[in-house]
Amino acid sequence: MQTKEAGPRVHVINGPNLNMLGKREPHLYGSLGLDEINRGLGTAAKALGLELDFFQSNHEGVILDRIHKIFEENPAGIIINPGALTHTSVALRDALLLLSCPIVEVHLSNIHKREPFRHTSFLADIATGHVIGFGHYGYQMALAAVHQLLKA
Ligand code: DQA
Repeated sequence: MQTKEAGPRVHVINGPNLNMLGKREPHLYGSLGLDEINRGLGTAAKALGLELDFFQSNHEGVILDRIHKIFEENPAGIIINPGALTHTSVALRDALLLLSCPIVEVHLSNIHKREPFRHTSFLADIATGHVIGFGHYGYQMALAAVHQLLKA
């Protein structure tokens, strides 16, 4: 029997409170839950020949541990919405600096239109690129970007 080779593995990481999407400030973040967003990503990834790995945690250290594990697994790409850790976490920045694959930072809301403390991202200069302000569609855009980068 022929075994199908797994495609490049892209990790989709969501930080604190993003498990509450759909319920949390829907005027800002929309009405889709994270499971629905991930399902849509899974469908798109299949068509692009990419494997996706989904992870969400409300705990900074748990996210760092996951990134350390991902580092050992030769990842093809990272799509990350760090939630509020975007604006606070040097530790998350340092962990992501371990990785040499493309990193796309996603924010559902346009953080630059919001409170001044959200205008700073500790990942801004280390991410390959950012998708900001397009709601859940931003994750799809990030996936398309990683796909293009891997093809290039
Ligand atoms: C967010 C923006 C952050 O400022 C906020 O803390 C979040 C969500 C976004 O997707 O728009 O949790 O990352």
